[in-house]
Amino acid sequence: MSDPLSPAPTDPEAPAGSPGGLHVSAHPAVLHKLAILRDTATEPKKFRELVRELSWLIGYEALADARTRPISVRTPMETTEAHQLADRIGLVPILRAGLGMVDAMLELMPTAEVWHLGLFRDERTLRPVEYYNKLPDSATVDLCLILDPMLATGGSATAAIEVLKRWGATRIKLINLIAAPEGVRAVMAAHPDVPIYCAALDRQLNERGYILPGLGDAGDRQFGTEHRG
Ligand code: PRP
Ligand code: URA
Repeated sequence: MSDPLSPAPTDPEAPAGSPGGLHVSAHPAVLHKLAILRDTATEPKKFRELVRELSWLIGYEALADARTRPISVRTPMETTEAHQLADRIGLVPILRAGLGMVDAMLELMPTAEVWHLGLFRDERTLRPVEYYNKLPDSATVDLCLILDPMLATGGSATAAIEVLKRWGATRIKLINLIAAPEGVRAVMAAHPDVPIYCAALDRQLNERGYILPGLGDAGDRQFGTEHRG
């Protein structure tokens, strides 16, 4: 039996040699916040706060290899060498649920550009349907971060990556909060060059394509549109 106090495993599904790979956070702050996020009793206001806080933490891990250039800074004491972000970063939130991740990422990277991409999952076919695309004509950044709390079948993420690659993006990372093994496999098979960063790798999808144990519908829970009856 596994030790419940041991850190969450890192990269449990990453195929050997994959330049992308799966990065599951093992940080205790992430694990703690995730438990509250999952809880069905957590109200939309608190849920939005947690999406923001978790996005900050996962985004921080995902940006660890962003490139910097040396600059000179004058402190009150002397002049010293420091660093400035060199990568031009594009944030691509997938509407709707990805919207809740944008502010945290902008706090981390205030100069990032934000391009909204509207995709919803047809609940019958589980295939993504694109309904909004605010990308400029050609790629203007060095690194694109796709923001979406949920990676379920992987259909939406794969479609978003394809849109960005057609647009000319060369470095893409996927930032999720909860991923299902099915979605991770689908993204890795179609786009092995795109790393996935998340707070948890869950067990499986149910017959309706929802993640188990998951947190339900991330869009509905953020925006208060969940109606149980
Ligand atoms: C959710 C989620 C992802 C997608 C994941 O969005 O935010 O975009 O489902 O599912 P997939 O991996 O099977 O494609 P949804 O379609 O519910 O739209 P919403 O954010 O507007 O609620
Ligand atoms: N989209 C969600 O919001 N939740 C899931 O579990 C699957 C897709």
